[in-house]
Amino acid sequence: MKTKQKIGLIGGGNMGAAILAGIVKDYTVTVCESDRKRAAVLKRRFRVSIGSLAEVVKNSRILIVAVKPQNFDAILIQLKLLCRKEHVIISIAAGITSRYMEKRLGANARIIRTMPNLPAQVGQGMTAVCKGGGATVADVKTTCRIFNCVGATVAVDEKWMDAVTAVSGSGPAYVFHFVEMFTNAARALGLDEKLSRDLVAQTLRGSLDLLEQSKEDAGTLRQRVTSKGGTTQAALEVFQKNKADKIFKEALGSAKRRARELAK
Ligand SMILES: NC(=O)c1ccc[n+]([C@@H]2O[C@H](COP(=O)([O-])OP(=O)(O)OC[C@H]3O[C@@H](n4cnc5c(N)ncnc54)[C@H](OP(=O)(O)O)[C@@H]3O)[C@@H](O)[C@H]2O)c1
Repeated sequence: MKTKQKIGLIGGGNMGAAILAGIVKDYTVTVCESDRKRAAVLKRRFRVSIGSLAEVVKNSRILIVAVKPQNFDAILIQLKLLCRKEHVIISIAAGITSRYMEKRLGANARIIRTMPNLPAQVGQGMTAVCKGGGATVADVKTTCRIFNCVGATVAVDEKWMDAVTAVSGSGPAYVFHFVEMFTNAARALGLDEKLSRDLVAQTLRGSLDLLEQSKEDAGTLRQRVTSKGGTTQAALEVFQKNKADKIFKEALGSAKRRARELAK
């Protein structure tokens, strides 16, 4: 039997636990978590070992750092002392560039920066992965294999990370907002809360499945369900008149600018 690769997870909060749930079947994971109650819960739920940062670094060649950006510097200071060239350090912290990490860990440190998103909690995340200067293409592949356990992955150049943050990082919130607006509009037609929610949820789910299974793109499918002078056209004309397209572009542009401002 092939031995499982070892991973050290530093920080087992919302995102850390979501990643842990996805990878624990295929990897041997040791977790370093400062909240002792939380560590005990993770140990029981996922049957993983809990260790200090030094133990985790000693046990595992691959490290996933999943603490909040404000706790990140403290971890980097310790990792600088503990890590050797064999370690691959995968960060999921939003807005912390590989340059920032390299300044603290050394230019040769094998750093991979990622941007996962919230649906990782249900195994349907989208994680963008980019390579720091000291990391190898094999390190990127290793990272993609790990994050494929919680959804899909894509390798991108780091210059795209602010745009990726605006699209898939913040994206789940746009979808939730769309669902809220869609459901409120259904309610405004007189439908009750549950029926509105059910109609909207299954319409979204079914349309996305159709889009995925179809050979046609979204624009073609839209045209196919829009007959001239019909109900769908009446609704779509309102979206066009109110420039929904422009609103969407402005919103994503604003998120990207904010990602750039917050990056360090
Ligand atoms: N949530 C998302 O949708 C999302 C999406 C993309 C990226 N991210 C990134 O994911 C990272 C984690 O976010 P989160 O929402 O999962 O945060 P979180 O729930 O606060 O999880 C972080 C965990 O790490 C622990 N921790 C802090 N310092 C530590 C240390 N020195 N050693 C060991 N454990 C330590 C925290 O314990 P204490 O509570 O005791 O401090 C907490 O349990 C962030 O950098 C964020 O930018 C999040």
